[in-house]
Amino acid sequence: MTTFKELLVKGTQQLGEDRNACLDVQVLLEHVTGIERFVFYAYPESEVTIEQEQHFLALLKRRLQGTPVAYLVGHKEFYGLDFLVDKRVLIPRPETELLVEAALEVIRCRLAAGQVPIVADVGTGSGIIPVTLAVEEPRLPYLYASDISADALEVARLNCLRHHVAQRVRLLHGDLLAPLPERVDILTANLPYVGSNEIDILTTDVYDYEPHLALFSGPHGLDLLHRLLIAAQQFVILKEGAVVLLEIGYQQREELEQFLQQVWPQATVTFKKDYAGWDRLLLLQI
Ligand SMILES: C[S@@+](CC[C@H](N)C(=O)[O-])C[C@H]1O[C@@H](n2cnc3c(N)ncnc32)[C@H](O)[C@@H]1O
Repeated sequence: MTTFKELLVKGTQQLGEDRNACLDVQVLLEHVTGIERFVFYAYPESEVTIEQEQHFLALLKRRLQGTPVAYLVGHKEFYGLDFLVDKRVLIPRPETELLVEAALEVIRCRLAAGQVPIVADVGTGSGIIPVTLAVEEPRLPYLYASDISADALEVARLNCLRHHVAQRVRLLHGDLLAPLPERVDILTANLPYVGSNEIDILTTDVYDYEPHLALFSGPHGLDLLHRLLIAAQQFVILKEGAVVLLEIGYQQREELEQFLQQVWPQATVTFKKDYAGWDRLLLLQI
């Protein structure tokens, strides 16, 4: 019989000993045994069943071939919540927590001022943004969440059910702002912002496995952000005093600032940095 310790050693020998590889091995072992990782370390000599060992080795092989660990186990943590993910959606990234935090701040300011804001998330993917906002702020009676991918919306629907917000998150299918049925106070979006000129710097884990519809946006990654900003400015979908919060690529601030000066000079635009010091969040107020 094989022990936890033997599988952990085998996993790290194959995947490597850096922090991410160790984490991947632990996540895979947790997944196949249903046992939390601290137990592996507390009882390293405990044995796994033959089925668990075979399942672990099969997943390890797929991980070695490049499949991201979140797709192998079918879920990923975001803002302290567990979300279902599969190849139909982008895997949630920690930097998107910055957007959620900033959106919650704006929502709570509005609520404190006696206004119940209408919130919409565009390009919602697995639904991490609207689901987290709905869970964190139960005073919001409803939110909109849209995506052009019907497949992604199916995953979002499962996540709404999983977190008991299916009655409050209204899923809409369509291009950018087109499906929104009313004007909104707060618009959030983590749209694709990778340029086709950046393909070479993407890891194969990302390029070969994550949906390209969720990654790419024209030659410099800015096509959808430009389209969204123009649509928001022209189509009166935003209410007076509305706030737009957009996750952006780490080198896109300057270009977006210049673009907005041309197309939307009246808007007040600020940026927030991520923990690595990059401008990753654009906040626009009208
Ligand atoms: C970068 S992913 C982000 C997903 C999710 N919001 C997150 O933060 O993990 C971008 C999402 O935008 C969607 N998308 C791409 N083009 C779109 C469009 N024209 N209109 C609406 N959604 C679009 C993709 O299907 C994908 O789900």
